[in-house]
Amino acid sequence: MVKVITYGTYDLLHYGHIRLLERAKALGDYLIVGVTSDDYDKSRGKINNQQSLMERIAAVKATGIADEIIVEEYEGQKIDDIRRYGADIFTVGSDWVGKFDYLNEYCKVVYLPRTEGISSSELRAEKRKLAIGTIGNGLLCQKFIREMQFVNGVEYRACDSSLEGVDAVYVASHPERHYDDVRGALLKGKHVICESPVALSAARYRELSALAREKSLILIDSIKTAYSTAYSRLLLVAKSGRIGEIVSVDCACTSLADGVFEAGKDLRSKQNSICAWGPTAMLPIFQLLGTEYRSCRIVTRLLNRELGFDGFTKLDFVFDKAVASARIGKAAKTEGELVITGTKGYIYVPAPWWKTDYFELRFEDPTQNQRHFYQLDGEGIRYEIVAFAKAVESGKQLFYLDESCSRSIVDVIETFRNGNYTEI
Ligand code: CTP
Repeated sequence: MVKVITYGTYDLLHYGHIRLLERAKALGDYLIVGVTSDDYDKSRGKINNQQSLMERIAAVKATGIADEIIVEEYEGQKIDDIRRYGADIFTVGSDWVGKFDYLNEYCKVVYLPRTEGISSSELRAEKRKLAIGTIGNGLLCQKFIREMQFVNGVEYRACDSSLEGVDAVYVASHPERHYDDVRGALLKGKHVICESPVALSAARYRELSALAREKSLILIDSIKTAYSTAYSRLLLVAKSGRIGEIVSVDCACTSLADGVFEAGKDLRSKQNSICAWGPTAMLPIFQLLGTEYRSCRIVTRLLNRELGFDGFTKLDFVFDKAVASARIGKAAKTEGELVITGTKGYIYVPAPWWKTDYFELRFEDPTQNQRHFYQLDGEGIRYEIVAFAKAVESGKQLFYLDESCSRSIVDVIETFRNGNYTEI
């Protein structure tokens, strides 16, 4: 029996794929099709698949051409598979000519002519693009606009305050303006992704999310960490019980780059520490321990009392069975790590943990330690844009960051703004 193996993403399955599969099958008696996993695709720069791995597998299965379907998850897997399944022929389309010659050592390599005039990329591009404008200026908008280029199905469109011509808007204005900017955009029928915190009081946050719901619009927090692959995996591993029950979550986020010391009178235009770093620092706390904390104590060192501008703040949460702490600051510098303490072991994420591409599971017995590496492109911003575009397209809020988490972030910031802290 001649076994043939082939690989592909098979996003939005089209007749080019079907013709390839038919010809691959005809090369032998038994066809194994490797469908690339979402993670593997991301690691090789393909972040725009419209369909999930499960949907893509189902589509390949439905052709009835494959005798067996496997998942391709890592670089170098092809050699493993060829050996494991005893494949006699490896085949792919002619767009790959030469790229897989190295497999000749293990089996016969055949490049089949690619079907002209069709590809998943073209099918994805045919869908109307989501035009996203930006509000606010500076570095954040520039980064967001740059990252949009890497995401299929979205395009940047410059807009003025009328927001004409855009379907959605990225809000990165001063936090004091978020409420007005977000409300204005929602009233104009635009979907919104807003730098967290979306509002500075719980009442206003509730009002905005109710407005979005009423108008069937997407409103999400922009916290890039929430959308990165490594961070999502970290949450799953931490919740899987591998480190036992979680008893403490401790993190720090600090930066001196914004020049708050030199700002002088300009401090008014800058974000204070609790707004700039609070949302990111509270993210793993609320996502791992929930939002039903018993108490939250805030200790702060103010740079300017009148403006409520904190240079350094420490948040201490007590939950029923766990505690958490976050140190944040724009006028202090410390190691930006995240440690999740469990009853059986802990997870360590080195600085800067909010740009996670790597984490470690550590145990009493170091031979049990595990390291996890992931690819992080564009600081996670492009994954956030992909997630936002998908939410808009499907009309569903995202599972990355639920509303209770966004609301609790706003709650803590409101508590701070009401002066409920201990000053040092
Ligand atoms: N293929 C083909 N003819 C096409 C498109 C794809 O023969 N018109 C083949 C590819 O060479 C590959 C397999 O189908 O062997 C799976 O390709 P995949 O990368 O999933 O599809 P593309 O349409 O090329 O996707 P993209 O546009 O995202 O690169």
